[in-house]
Amino acid sequence: MTTREQCAALDAADPLAHCRARFDLPAGTIYLDGNSLGAMPANVPARMKQALEQEWAHGLIRSWNDADWYPAPQRVGDRIAKLIGAGQGEVIVADSTSVNLFKVLVAATRMRPGRRAILAERTNFPTDVYVASSVAEMTGCELRCAEPDDVVAAIDENVAIVSLTHVNYKTGKRYDLQEVTRRAHEAGALVVWDLCHSAGAMPVDLNRCEADFAVGCGYKYLNGGPGAPAFVFVATRHLAAVRQPLTGWHGHARPFDFTHEYVPHAGIDRMLTGTAPQLGLIALESALDAFDGVDLDDVRAKSVALGDLFIALADRELMRLGCTLASPREASRRGSQVSLAHKEGYAIMQALIERNVIGDFRAPDILRFGFAPLYVRYVDIWDSIAALKDIIETDAWNTEAFRTRKSVT
Ligand SMILES: Cc1ncc(COP(=O)(O)O)c(C=O)c1O
Repeated sequence: MTTREQCAALDAADPLAHCRARFDLPAGTIYLDGNSLGAMPANVPARMKQALEQEWAHGLIRSWNDADWYPAPQRVGDRIAKLIGAGQGEVIVADSTSVNLFKVLVAATRMRPGRRAILAERTNFPTDVYVASSVAEMTGCELRCAEPDDVVAAIDENVAIVSLTHVNYKTGKRYDLQEVTRRAHEAGALVVWDLCHSAGAMPVDLNRCEADFAVGCGYKYLNGGPGAPAFVFVATRHLAAVRQPLTGWHGHARPFDFTHEYVPHAGIDRMLTGTAPQLGLIALESALDAFDGVDLDDVRAKSVALGDLFIALADRELMRLGCTLASPREASRRGSQVSLAHKEGYAIMQALIERNVIGDFRAPDILRFGFAPLYVRYVDIWDSIAALKDIIETDAWNTEAFRTRKSVT
């Protein structure tokens, strides 16, 4: 039977233990919400200070050239590419995940003109389904929504695009990216992967899996800060054929020629639209230093171990208290989070947060716990299960204050 001392021993032997010092985490807080907003890397404030006080205040507009602001979307994209198995020049940072989804879904649908269906998963993150629905309407396609286990069977010769999230935001259930891509290609469809819950949490290997398109956000496991810009991947073999719909000047072959006609850039820059959110990009770029020298296989191994430990302790302490497991038990089918269901989930999570154990809640009854392997420790898992057990056993959650819903859950 696992003990806290054994958890501490696992931390002492953890090859990623040194990475925790790369983050500015408040003392006494257990942070299990890096799947929603990553913790702040400790080097970011100094970089932001320089960006504000020197590059913006003193460099002024010259900084687009002198401080290398202008090529930041490509430069940061190339750094993210290394974390998701993409090549240099295949990833660019721009806009939000929702906007990038719109761009790639339209572009991909245009590449399969004879086909009239976009296939999505019904339980996908709402923005993915909302955007797919709008793209279907605009392009004259039908939006088909399948249950998670029926997606592959629903791919037929009329499906142009399969739009999926690699790791489900609510359950943490993970698709086999390579196998689903292969099955879609066999049927002649293209696949758009949302990597919001994968990038930075595990190796992804887009090119080994022959992925077509991917999008993802900068503010979860990449730790780029609230509202950090997102990224978009287009496989080199598709670039020439890609016509994305938001044809802004930054996607032009020669933006500073200011010509009347739109000529798309030959490379990944064609996925850009307008001026980059430079301060957000600078924060994201410096946050990526937290991955320096980190082996993503170590990240995945620790993520699996943290998840398995959480489930084992939850089985022992929480299941008899009305909790059920809402994530796959097998690590191979899980991302880097474990979700529990409890009918009083919202109030329980508020009580937990008051004890400085931070996870989050997703309606109607899901408590989410994300494990960012660069800074979450094994003892954190032990301590959060102990806090949860106490809160449920003693009904400490059962107050009006904890039951009152805030706008962000
Ligand atoms: C899977 C997934 N896609 C997209 C988003 C949100 O995208 P955006 O950054 O455009 O708000 C989230 C946010 O949590 C998400 O979990």
